Amino acid sequence: MASREQFSSKFGFIMAAAGSAIGLGNIWGFPTQTASNGGAAFVVVYFMMAFALAYPALMAELIIGRHSKSNILTALRGIAPNQASRILGTGVGIYGVIIASLILSFYGIVAGWMLCYLAESVTSLLGWDSASQWLVSFGNERNIISMGIFMLLTMYIIANGISGGIEKWSTRLMPMLMVILAGLIIYVMTQPGAGEGLRVYLLPDFSQLKPSLFVDAMGQAFFSLSLGVGTMLVYGSYLSNKESLPRLGVMVTLVDSGTAFVAGLLIIPAIYVAKQYGANIFTEAGDLIAGPDLIFQVLPTLFESMGAIGMWVALAFFILMSIASLTSSISMLEVPVSLAVEETSFSRRQATLVIGTLIFGCSTVILFNFGTLFDFVINLTTVYSQPLLGLMLCVFAGWIWHRDNLLQEIKAGHPEIEGTFFWKVWPNYVKFVCPLLVLTTLIQSIGG
Ligand code: TRP
Repeated sequence: MASREQFSSKFGFIMAAAGSAIGLGNIWGFPTQTASNGGAAFVVVYFMMAFALAYPALMAELIIGRHSKSNILTALRGIAPNQASRILGTGVGIYGVIIASLILSFYGIVAGWMLCYLAESVTSLLGWDSASQWLVSFGNERNIISMGIFMLLTMYIIANGISGGIEKWSTRLMPMLMVILAGLIIYVMTQPGAGEGLRVYLLPDFSQLKPSLFVDAMGQAFFSLSLGVGTMLVYGSYLSNKESLPRLGVMVTLVDSGTAFVAGLLIIPAIYVAKQYGANIFTEAGDLIAGPDLIFQVLPTLFESMGAIGMWVALAFFILMSIASLTSSISMLEVPVSLAVEETSFSRRQATLVIGTLIFGCSTVILFNFGTLFDFVINLTTVYSQPLLGLMLCVFAGWIWHRDNLLQEIKAGHPEIEGTFFWKVWPNYVKFVCPLLVLTTLIQSIGG
């Protein structure tokens, strides 16, 4: 095998991992979950989940990945000490790769919509009315074309490999994302109604602290940190042994939850500004509109009513959403592509082409059966499979893998770690606490 590519710097890894983590889950999912789950009460529980559960699971992936220097399937088989656990590793690996691909097949559809609204803000600036109308109509033709274009962008980056593809584009796009996000927040804060939104977002309503809130917060944390399917595992596998994994993990978790929190400072106030401008922001049941209607109706109504500047705000907003989607989707595609490159004779380019086309086919099937398949695939992958896979990865790190190897890998790049809190707590934590917590929540979500 040719020598394996690596991220060229720590900064490159952090941008790539943050790029994977920061996506629609942060900018859309987190703020709306917060708004419909009692404001800051959800924020508090979410941060607890992110650090007490998602961070340890993230560490399991990074440690297994860097040690094995391979994709999820080869990695799990490699650390399995006997035949039975090798079979289990194969099963979990295949399951993870399939789920990663399915996540991409619905994520690509949604990301395609973002591209459409991005294009629409340009066509409406130019006064091209019929193009604008086509771009915001919900037709199969529009949906397939936009999803296809988004898939091509994703494939283009992945075909160029780690440092020349994933790292290069993440380090370009993520700083842009941060600047646009900050600019939009500053602008929205000057608008009437923003204060009311801020209050809804930041004042906790602890009467809403019910069990389902914990389930939602955990699901959100797993999705947001891209856990379970081997994304972070494979990113970890491109890390040099010189880096300290626990520190990098903390940084990625902080940047991810920090960005989710900051995105809430944009989205929730924007909803209340839209209300001031006359948009209807509540469903018939009296809840805040949170689904696609929020992004594709409430906010566009807001942009339109802002006059000339609204078009520029819309442009910035949908560029933000498109960047967030793209740096996440590449991390999903890397999961099956890394497996194909390492376990078959395909080159990276061939593997990207074949797998990208297959996922494009999946997305097309979902689009043609939108009513039955779209929500089904989202639930199957994110609500059930991701926590289950996360659980299995903790079991591999805590129970199946030889403890000495595990400790040695943690020590690499961080020689003075013995004696730290992480060293003392994490190995048992990932062995007992994480699986138990995930299991409890899974049972909850199946029961509910
Ligand atoms: N974390 C991303 C978001 O918040 C989505 C994502 C990227 C993801 N890679 C993943 C989700 C792997 C699950 C699995 O939008």
